[in-house]
Amino acid sequence: MDIEAVKDQAGPRQFGPNDDMPEEYRRAATRMIQFHANSEVMGGYLDKEFTRHAPSLDRKLANTAKVQDEIGHAQLLYRAAETLGVKTREEMLDELKNGEGKFLNCFHYPVDSWYEAPMIDFFVDGGAMRRQATLKSTSWTPYAHAMDKVCFEEGFHVKHGESILRELMRGSKATQERTQETFEEWWPRILQFFGPTNDESTHNDFAQEVGLKTTSNDELRNSFLNLYIPKAEKYGLEIPESPRVFERDDGTMAVREDDLDWEEFWTIAKNDYEGSHEQIGSRRRRQEAVAWVRESLDGWEGSAAGTSQAAD
Ligand SMILES: [Fe+2]
Ligand SMILES: [Fe+2]
Repeated sequence: MDIEAVKDQAGPRQFGPNDDMPEEYRRAATRMIQFHANSEVMGGYLDKEFTRHAPSLDRKLANTAKVQDEIGHAQLLYRAAETLGVKTREEMLDELKNGEGKFLNCFHYPVDSWYEAPMIDFFVDGGAMRRQATLKSTSWTPYAHAMDKVCFEEGFHVKHGESILRELMRGSKATQERTQETFEEWWPRILQFFGPTNDESTHNDFAQEVGLKTTSNDELRNSFLNLYIPKAEKYGLEIPESPRVFERDDGTMAVREDDLDWEEFWTIAKNDYEGSHEQIGSRRRRQEAVAWVRESLDGWEGSAAGTSQAAD
């Protein structure tokens, strides 16, 4: 199949490992799924900090379960990416460790307080839900199947984040003020989560033409704002004046792009932000620290015991 045929068929049709797909499609799909898988790992790494800060045993347990979910999502997605035959899971994990793997902007900012938990677990996961729900009909079938399980669990994550936000906003005045301040710090990052406007996004057009993406960045941001601004206000958060969010003539929501720091966004996109180095370094140290587990498993799989066990 050539790329024009893929574009013609994408939408009504999905493709899988048995289809003869052009290299251009395979590379674009790998780039997109790898980015998503990396973001699950790095999101999980950010979230694990909250287990230390969580104010009760129940919150610690729930947070630990969420971190495990995120790492599980990464595993599913690396496997879905492998089905394209471009890179192995190990190569993708090494790229992440070496600072070549790209991931979502919000996960480049280190966190150090419990007030940040709902910013990630409610707003960022809520944004991720908007995007991921549309990916259940992405044109690469293994990716779409992975999204079924991922979306099911993300629904719990958003509830978990909402419950933390509700608790904080019912706390003392000082707690409410701290939550509002943290929200103001995170708001621009959350708005940038969906990427730049459609005109600026490098891979947007092609990914939509071949059905990998079914919805544009602007449409996703609009649907997120429509849903989450009322939710934020319901819990008593005030939407900051800047970056300014406004209603367009057609009733859709948009952000005044000039209010956002796109230089910082593009530095992050190159993994060159100071937080990026910290987050990637942390990931690299963890991966190296457990290398012995991988090596012993490799050795065991190749051994007589591993072979007979696998055959059972
Ligand atoms: Fe996830
Ligand atoms: Fe999540």
